[in-house]
Amino acid sequence: MCGIVGYTGGRNAAPILLAGLGRLEYRGYDSSGIALIQNDNLIVRKKQGKVEDLRLSLEREPTASLIGLGHTRWATHGVPSEQNAHPHVDNANRIALIHNGIIENHAAIKEFLLSEGYQFYTSTDTEVLAQLVGHHFHANLADAVRAAVNQVEGSYSIAVIAPEDPLTIVAARNGIPLIIGIGEGEYFIASDTAAFLEHTNQIITLEDHEIAVITPAGVNVSAAGQQHIRKEISTVASNLEQIEKNGFEHFMLKEIYDQPRALEAAMRGRIDPGGINYHEIEVVLSYLENASRIYLTACGTSWHAALIGEYLLEQIAGVAVEVEYASEFRYRQPLIDKKTVVVAISQSGETADTLAAMKMAKEQGAMVIGIANTVGSSVSLASDETIYINAGPEIGVASTKSFTSQVMVLILLAKALGERTGRLDARAAANMAQAIEALPEMANASLGTAGQVQEIAAQFERSRDFLYLGRGLNFPVALEGALKMKEISYIHAEGYPAAEMKHGPIALIDENMPVVCIAPRDDTYGKILSNIQEVKARRGRIIALTSEGDKGINKLADHVIQLPETIPALYPILAAIPLQLLAYHIAVGLDLDVDQPRNLAKCVTVE
Ligand code: F6R
Repeated sequence: MCGIVGYTGGRNAAPILLAGLGRLEYRGYDSSGIALIQNDNLIVRKKQGKVEDLRLSLEREPTASLIGLGHTRWATHGVPSEQNAHPHVDNANRIALIHNGIIENHAAIKEFLLSEGYQFYTSTDTEVLAQLVGHHFHANLADAVRAAVNQVEGSYSIAVIAPEDPLTIVAARNGIPLIIGIGEGEYFIASDTAAFLEHTNQIITLEDHEIAVITPAGVNVSAAGQQHIRKEISTVASNLEQIEKNGFEHFMLKEIYDQPRALEAAMRGRIDPGGINYHEIEVVLSYLENASRIYLTACGTSWHAALIGEYLLEQIAGVAVEVEYASEFRYRQPLIDKKTVVVAISQSGETADTLAAMKMAKEQGAMVIGIANTVGSSVSLASDETIYINAGPEIGVASTKSFTSQVMVLILLAKALGERTGRLDARAAANMAQAIEALPEMANASLGTAGQVQEIAAQFERSRDFLYLGRGLNFPVALEGALKMKEISYIHAEGYPAAEMKHGPIALIDENMPVVCIAPRDDTYGKILSNIQEVKARRGRIIALTSEGDKGINKLADHVIQLPETIPALYPILAAIPLQLLAYHIAVGLDLDVDQPRNLAKCVTVE
């Protein structure tokens, strides 16, 4: 979390930084700030709240500077406030620093700096780092940054400027992304290329323990020990259109509607052996086939996709799989040997808990496979093999298209493994391939329920709680539906396996409780119908998702959302879409900030 951006070149820096911060706001949005160098002085402006508040304050007092740093914050150490917002400066006001990450030994460093007479004005770990850079700053800024980061334990991407070296940004990273954008006579740095994509698509990716010295004349990257490193320049794959709303009111809505395309991109070349992307699946299959144990690990929505993966791999491929929250995995001494395969699933590719679980698994000898969205992300770098979901940038804080694309990749894996293990015969595999190919169109039909879902949302937006029920493959969809509702509408919601309802949650049901039941016509249909009867008998209000043409549920449910008929393995994807829309329309109805829900950030880079 937190987004950082920097500029050095021939143009006025502040508008460029503000636009970049706007694009990074998905990473954190409780406060923001910029530092500039004007007439040999550091100017620092900060605001609690959104980047828009910062922009308005800068409009009131315009600045002129050819260099600057910007930061949008998601608080870890210290409450969201103007004082704790970045950039932070040293006591002598000689340097300004922005930071994404956590300095784990900040207390020890602060103690040392206090003993040296430094004073602290915030409760952040970042101010400690700013003072430390200041402490080491004698003549050369890069040397000061190098000396400081060599003393630091933890994760960081940082950037520093100083009026004594007024055209230079010094940047460094360890464990948190930092990208340098190359323009003509101007350079950018950012946590994510989205921050500067409107100016350039040529980039250098900084790696751990590297330090970059960036001026309008060029970039010089060196290792911690000062030796020069030759860096490759690459071209960003995404384009401006992908990171803009393109007429949609919110990124979340745009991304919900992008799902047919994203599903197509996830399956392209991967359905049949010999397909262009099939070889990634092929390599992974041989590991899975020979594994002594398979773990799927992830957090949040990606964990829900993993749960669906467990059902799929067991049912379709006949292999046993365990699913673990990444944040729990390494604390429970899991049984890992050299034939263990750990599959880590992450949209951002930067989730700290997932990365820590992968590291632990690797240290114990496991083969680690990543299912990721972002090429070059930390998850892909930490994996022995990576399968990309190819969903394209996801900017709305609540995951939508990445969830369905992750499930798509897990379906493809299960299918391919099922063919290998012989559990899926040629005919069944061909049927499945046909259903998969039809899925983007079915997802379109699922989006066709939007009008109906919006009407339902209007009726339930004052509800205080929601219950989501599903069985088998659709139980994780119930969890995901509930998570979406909590995240963006702040309404309490719980997902349950439908049959578990009678073991406790049934006590909650009365005429005020909406119960969303995912009830496709599969082999659990009869059972879930009984569960729906149980809700009805207690006057609960039922919103049922079922298969097209199903009449059985009409008599029981208050609202029936019919989804296209498909094979059971694909139903979670079709069912997730109206649940995303339901959460979305309720949040919009409540006038909440859908793309930037309170307390959340798009990628969680702290453990
Ligand atoms: C929910 C959501 C989060 C993420 C979780 C893991 O909408 O977005 O629960 O799924 O933080 O993130 P990734 O997949 O980036 O590792």
